[in-house]
Amino acid sequence: MFNPRSTVVRRISAEQPDPSMIHEAAEVLRRGGLVAFPTETVYGLGANALDAKAVESIFAAKGRPPTNPIIVHVADVDAAKSLASNWPEVADRLAKRFWPGSLTLVVPKHSRVPDVVTAGGSTVGIRVPAHPVALALLQAVQLPIAAPSANRATELSPTIADHVFRALDGRVDLILDAGPTSGGLESTVIDITRKPPKLLRPGLVSVAEIQAVIGELDTTRVAEHHGSDEPARSPGQQPRHYAPRTRLLVSQQSEREVTKLLAAGHRIGWLRLGSASPLERDLNERIAGTELRESVKIVDMPIHATRYAAQLYAALHELDGAQLDVIVVDLPPQTDEWLAIHDRLRRAAYPE
Ligand code: TXA
Ligand code: MG
Repeated sequence: MFNPRSTVVRRISAEQPDPSMIHEAAEVLRRGGLVAFPTETVYGLGANALDAKAVESIFAAKGRPPTNPIIVHVADVDAAKSLASNWPEVADRLAKRFWPGSLTLVVPKHSRVPDVVTAGGSTVGIRVPAHPVALALLQAVQLPIAAPSANRATELSPTIADHVFRALDGRVDLILDAGPTSGGLESTVIDITRKPPKLLRPGLVSVAEIQAVIGELDTTRVAEHHGSDEPARSPGQQPRHYAPRTRLLVSQQSEREVTKLLAAGHRIGWLRLGSASPLERDLNERIAGTELRESVKIVDMPIHATRYAAQLYAALHELDGAQLDVIVVDLPPQTDEWLAIHDRLRRAAYPE
């Protein structure tokens, strides 16, 4: 059960965060409260990572299964080292290249880190975020901040403060609203306790960028965690995750799907990619000027992977709020830079 809280929202500059607001947020964290704050990927729901009770309240607020470990955010490499029982040389190289930034390193955990943070596991995921508000908060509070994405469990991650507010009003003490996040997808997670290191979650830092630093990276897909009774072999790998409430369908032939669904009387959201194909122009002509126009809500997405990633959750949040029956998503290209996007779409489409 979560404790009801009254939620305060503060607008804060993303470039030059107001020190008094940062101070207020640090105080909330020090007394065991919850603060939602922007990172360069998505908004996080933060608590003092060294306070087991505070971290428990993150799980309660999100309705997160206790088998899913939480990423710990720190201000710099030294703070990261203080949470690890062993800091491999490869960690130094990766940190040097990618921190502050969107790469989470899974390393052996120090006994200082409460078990609740790591879901009882012997490793901890750590990153230094690049967002000025997140960094200012970490520097002010002088504590590691445990922070999953600031959404209810399995739902879409938030890229604006309003997404956080709608999901967690009454469940978080303070929301720092610094506008939209730039990255839009969660960090890349790699486990460097294994040899070779293993990709646990694709994200904004690409496989190729990591391989350029460490050589080999095991990218075989992590076994998904289907039951809630068995312990997670690879934590945080629920097949349904990052999902809108509306049914979602990824299709290589979306014009056909849309036509079929419209004919069956459904209201459709369509996340469209690239310029209109002949089939699509045909469909557009058929629905223009008819009442079918009212039944399809189209969002045109950029054909550039980084820009697509930045807009994906916002587009899905928007369509999810539009009382539709199905969201049809054009299948993106099957190339490396689209890996994280495919991962999120696959989980979003997984049946409930
Ligand atoms: O971009 C991000 O990473 C955002 C922002 C807020 O930093 N955070 C985020 O956290 O996405 P969350 O809790 O929603 O995702 C954490 C995921 C887990 O589901 C799991 O896949 C992985 O990170 N993870 C964390 N700690 C781990 C560990 N010790 N071992 C294996 N996987 C871990
Ligand atoms: Mg999450």
